[in-house]
Amino acid sequence: MCGIVGYIGHRDAYPIIIKGLQRLEYRGYDSAGIALFDGSDINLSKTKGKVEHLKKKAEESMSLKGGLGIGHTRWATHGIPNDENSHPHISNSGDLVIVHNGIIENYESIKKELTKRGYNFHSDTDTEVLVNLIEEVKKKEDVKLGHAVQIALSEVVGAYAIAIIDRNKPDEIVVAKLGSPLAIGVGENEFFIASDASPFIEYTNNAVYLADEEMAIVRLGKEIKLRKIKDDAIAYPNIMELKLNIEEIEKGGYDHFMLKEIYEQPRAILDTYRGRLNVDQGLIKMAGIDDNLERFMNADRIIIVACGTSWHAGLVAEYIFEDLARIPVEVEYASEFRYRNPVITDKDVVIAISQSGETADTLAAIKLAKANGAFVFGVCNVVGSSIARETDAGAYTHAGPEIGVASTKAFTTQITVLTLVALKLAKEKGVFPESKYHEFLIELESIPSKVERALESNALVEIIAEVHKNATNCLYLGRGYNFPVALEGALKLKEISYIHAEGYPAAEMKHGPIALIDQQMPVFVIATKKGHYDKVVSNIQEIKSRKGKIIAIVTEGDSQVKELADHVIEVPETIESLTPLLTTIPLQLLSYHIAVMRGCNVDQPRNLAKSVTVE
Ligand code: F6R
Repeated sequence: MCGIVGYIGHRDAYPIIIKGLQRLEYRGYDSAGIALFDGSDINLSKTKGKVEHLKKKAEESMSLKGGLGIGHTRWATHGIPNDENSHPHISNSGDLVIVHNGIIENYESIKKELTKRGYNFHSDTDTEVLVNLIEEVKKKEDVKLGHAVQIALSEVVGAYAIAIIDRNKPDEIVVAKLGSPLAIGVGENEFFIASDASPFIEYTNNAVYLADEEMAIVRLGKEIKLRKIKDDAIAYPNIMELKLNIEEIEKGGYDHFMLKEIYEQPRAILDTYRGRLNVDQGLIKMAGIDDNLERFMNADRIIIVACGTSWHAGLVAEYIFEDLARIPVEVEYASEFRYRNPVITDKDVVIAISQSGETADTLAAIKLAKANGAFVFGVCNVVGSSIARETDAGAYTHAGPEIGVASTKAFTTQITVLTLVALKLAKEKGVFPESKYHEFLIELESIPSKVERALESNALVEIIAEVHKNATNCLYLGRGYNFPVALEGALKLKEISYIHAEGYPAAEMKHGPIALIDQQMPVFVIATKKGHYDKVVSNIQEIKSRKGKIIAIVTEGDSQVKELADHVIEVPETIESLTPLLTTIPLQLLSYHIAVMRGCNVDQPRNLAKSVTVE
């Protein structure tokens, strides 16, 4: 959600910023803009639409010279997507130019105050208010830009990551962060600013991630000056060496990132358990659990907080934790949890799941849980993300960068990590028979090759997609471990193909959704051999007798469902708890193909953002 890129150094800033904005497109946006200092003044170009459009506009209308600049992709919050509301925003004097990711909640009262003092506004945005507030503070207090930013930010309520430049001080960029991510890439006498490391990873592996309420002055020829916004304390920049490489964030021959990421799952799952799972020794090693075992062993319950696909992974985890480790689990939408005055005690363990590690609601839920004494464990994909830093301990999924907005490999790797945690706790508690435990470890180790086999359904899935690409409504049904997979299948279809879809526990169908079934309605049913197979077969019969079109995900070799369904897609057999890792694969492929056939923008669906940094 909103992307920021900035550069100061000896190269031309323009190509770095444009390419960086393209790398951040996955975050979701509706307009884009750039500001460059050409040696005497700041030139600006911004537009509604894609970065490609901005590139054309900028190349036709402004000087592209200069080694200082900032750029932005905007996901509209205050004010519709149009040229005026796009960033960067310029202050009334024309001196200051800002890009901002986040929301300034008290902008209206600040705007009123500034209007009284003679300021004019040309957009509907909170960001234009912020840049003028900084200008006003700078003039009134007669302070330098860094100091003015600091004072202004102590007056605002909300969330932000900002980068701001001053045409009278073209050797520096001032940046600050609260709630939205911001990284500084540190090169040889050059600095890069970005919402994540993807825009600068080809130039440098060294990065400083700003913490909440930190600001930095990034000045040419100088060390980064980092300080706390509230109390002015000096902080020392912790320069991290990043392991990310450029190939990981490019499409590698696939038409879309989503397809690449679907196919990466065998590798991603393997990377996620590599070094943690030792089948020969019957061991699971996870530092985040080992170091805090007491907290887990003494927990009255586990509360899982997450949003979207990560919440679906949480639902699968609920089944696994209760089934294997016999620990009571509640799964909560982070957005509900944070506002509903939940009962939280210091005997609770809260697990926060987030691919991006930046989801605002999940972050707020974590803060609430910590404030009430709970121990918070994070499951994130993005190293160094806000959630990874905010939690007491955690385990990374090693999925690699997920660029497609629709989450795929994050889901299966989250389930992998959570399965490891559940197995480990089950063993520690002695509640899971040793022989079953060992069988489980062996089976988990075989999952990457089984996912490879599930991916072989692609050609068949494409044929099924062709048949159903014009559906207007779809139903997804599953039971037990595969109920969350039904929810996830429906979410994947809606978000990238814009077809209405509902996921339901198969048995709930009789309590309402069955009324929807007619011969136009495709019903995707997960009917694997393990896990209430006979019950699901009965549900399939109920659909068939109402003439619904049945597409069933079955275990290899199944013959009973084949008799009933219009199409069957086979996945390899596995332990019931691990079936979601396989059954989800054809459903991901199905939504991908349907979306492509409908001409949808698969990697950047409308209105969606990869990283939801506002609530
Ligand atoms: C769906 C999807 C979203 C995210 C949700 C949470 O495909 O990507 O539903 O799962 O926005 O994001 P994270 O996991 O980054 O907290």
